[in-house]
Amino acid sequence: MEFKARAFNPATLKVDALVLVIPTKGPLGTLASSLDQAGGGVISAILKNGELGRNGNSLALYAPAGIEARKLVLLGGGERPPSESQFQKLAGRIASQLTAPGIKSAALCLDGIEVAGRDGPWRATQLARALGEGLYLFDQFKSKKDQPRPSLARVTLHAEGRDTAAVNAGLDKGLALAEGINLARELGDLPPNVCNPGYLADRARELAKATPGLSAKVLGEKQLETLKMGSLLSVTAGSAHPAQFIIMEYKGGAKGAAPIALVGKGVTFDSGGISLKPGAGMDEMKYDMCGAASVFGTLATAAALKLPLNIVAIIPAVENMPSGNATRPGDIVTSMSGQTIEILNTDAEGRLILCDALTYVERYKPKAVIDIATLTGACVIALGNHASGLFSNNDELASALLGAGEDANDRAWRMPLWEEYDQQLKSNFADMANVGGRNGGSVTAACFLARFTKGYPWAHLDIAGTAWNSGSAKGATGRPVPLLVEYLCREAG
Ligand code: BES
Ligand code: MN
Ligand code: ZN
Repeated sequence: MEFKARAFNPATLKVDALVLVIPTKGPLGTLASSLDQAGGGVISAILKNGELGRNGNSLALYAPAGIEARKLVLLGGGERPPSESQFQKLAGRIASQLTAPGIKSAALCLDGIEVAGRDGPWRATQLARALGEGLYLFDQFKSKKDQPRPSLARVTLHAEGRDTAAVNAGLDKGLALAEGINLARELGDLPPNVCNPGYLADRARELAKATPGLSAKVLGEKQLETLKMGSLLSVTAGSAHPAQFIIMEYKGGAKGAAPIALVGKGVTFDSGGISLKPGAGMDEMKYDMCGAASVFGTLATAAALKLPLNIVAIIPAVENMPSGNATRPGDIVTSMSGQTIEILNTDAEGRLILCDALTYVERYKPKAVIDIATLTGACVIALGNHASGLFSNNDELASALLGAGEDANDRAWRMPLWEEYDQQLKSNFADMANVGGRNGGSVTAACFLARFTKGYPWAHLDIAGTAWNSGSAKGATGRPVPLLVEYLCREAG
């Protein structure tokens, strides 16, 4: 889809849909007034009769006299100026109008909301992101499509003045972000018989091939044995699909500049292993690779925006299954770091693959390492679906991530990594156990990871609650791609 900002006369533009956002109260602005005049006063008549509750509903006029657009949509658009969250909601409503079937070309006039000035580029990004996300449809496994695909191809946003270039840059950023979010959603929505470790490896090679500056390399189980990743390999032992250790490198920064590392949990299906999960809702454990998916999406967006950064992405991709070869509760394994782990619960597998990935990443001498994982059900209990859990051994990194999440409407909330929690991981037989009991489950999981990340600034995002929606809107959300992209944009300056 193409989305551009420029000045135009709304009355004479030939488009399938022209959306005019009208403020809750006060007089019409210049854009709305000129359109009203061209239409013989139709807009002011509608408002006068109270036919458009000006806050939150919409009214469509087909073939409006004096106006070239095939359809004019009036959208009651709330307060002036809108707060950030009000604008984000408005962007979503605009998107749902424009992504309706049958609309190929559209134009958008925000009457009374500035797209120039300081807030212009940010607002443009929100609009483009909402539109891009609105175009996502996952129907490749439906033999009868129950919904026509949106056909939107071209949108023009009314903007004038010297700021138009900055607004267009904001639109480009929002579209690139939506691409990354939608890539993460697609990978999360794919069924686990398709999206297995080998499939993720193929997608990584494909993405690298299609993306300038991005390369991909995949290590197989033989190489992981040579690297002594005993912890990671214990998770994949019961699966018929061999583990794939995916490494992608994006080189947009100065040669030799320390990279930012993203490590994504890629459990393509988490049955729990021998510590088998209950049957109800087990299908949702196909989402246990959403950390990996968010790394794919973030890389795709970072590369599309040509961010002047070096990024290394590590994705340990495995399937956690029970079998005669599966790891047992009670088994003791040796991680790549040399630390030994008593596996008391095979369902606490995320930390077992991440610890080896977090040791492996040391060789890149990264300036920061961020792991992203659907790590614990306890995090969903603690924070629900609203915020990702953030754990970090570095205050500067933590506040950068929190700030990025605020700005991108993809919030995280910081949680502790105190010694007292770490003590819950004591084992009678090995250096540590892989679980620390029910209490503070998301914190003890993070404390486990912290034992492997002492050599660099590190943050862990537990996205168990934020990566997908349950219920009737079941599906991957693409979070925390917005947070990560915003963080990287700020790092890029
Ligand atoms: N993938 C799950 C965590 C999860 C649970 C994500 C619910 C999304 C929704 C993880 O591997 C897991 O099973 N964690 C266990 C840890 C426990 C055994 C200490 C959990 O949360 O129950
Ligand atoms: Mn598990
Ligand atoms: Zn898991």
